[in-house]
Amino acid sequence: MVDSPLVNFKGRHLLGIDDLSADEIIGLVNTANRFVEVSEREIKKLPTLRGKTVVNLFFEPSTRTRTSFEIAGKRLSADVINISAQSSSVVKGETFKDTVLNLASMRPDALVIRHPSPGTPLYASKFAGCPVINGGDGAHAHPTQALLDMMTIMERRKSLKNLNVAIIGDVLHSRVARSNISAFKRFDANITVCGPKTLMPAHMDNFGVRVTHDIYEAVEGADVIMMLRIQTERMAQGLFPSLREYSSRFCLDSKVMKKAKPDAIVTHPGPINRGIEISSEVADGKYSVILDQVTHGVAMRMAVLYLLCGGAD
Ligand code: CP
Repeated sequence: MVDSPLVNFKGRHLLGIDDLSADEIIGLVNTANRFVEVSEREIKKLPTLRGKTVVNLFFEPSTRTRTSFEIAGKRLSADVINISAQSSSVVKGETFKDTVLNLASMRPDALVIRHPSPGTPLYASKFAGCPVINGGDGAHAHPTQALLDMMTIMERRKSLKNLNVAIIGDVLHSRVARSNISAFKRFDANITVCGPKTLMPAHMDNFGVRVTHDIYEAVEGADVIMMLRIQTERMAQGLFPSLREYSSRFCLDSKVMKKAKPDAIVTHPGPINRGIEISSEVADGKYSVILDQVTHGVAMRMAVLYLLCGGAD
């Protein structure tokens, strides 16, 4: 099906966007684009990864990432096993390392890990004995989200070069923001980040981005408006007075969208907090590509599993 991928990923880990060149990102997007039609078939199945085993090891809740990795693996005929921390021997006190060592002893061909602690997939990659894919580690990185975002943006804008990008919301806790900034910078984007001062990492200027606390200023001239979820589960103390006050200043609604370019696109990694960081009118409206992102998530994860597990052979 995919006869000449641009990149050789066989046996590699996918831990962060920082490990990928611009050519490799484009190669992954091109490969994923070729898998899109499989999900439109009546029989959604290719034999490509028959005999391979993919283990999804999730220590945090997930709807999109876990399901799309499972669907992606199954559409490529791999055997996919889902393990959540709550239903594993972690609750009996088994360590993360022992959990991974025991799973490695069953000889999987890829291990997808989501964990609240940054760096956990990197740690696992030292002894997993197979490619490790970061499915999101704390506030650090979410590489497959950034890749599916690049795929979605390329479909609409045709090129990733020199885009004006606004990233708005809870930047402090966002692995999606960090991975996307890393990806956009490979294509010389002009990036503006926007949110309350308390939800902005210190020294954000070191990332080579412009910072504003005015959502109207952020969206003006943006080709891509990337909204972020408020991650209350990661907030130890109140970082803003109330959700109502947050939404009064940072919710992307129709009034704010009047400042946007007519062909701007609005992304959100999900899950969305309707009426808090984005209004239903915008989330479900003509600028939104939010459900396209989810569709592309399956194709991108098919591409990642295909290339890392050696389907390109
Ligand atoms: N975008 C994303 O990671 O969503 P889930 O938490 O549902 O996987």
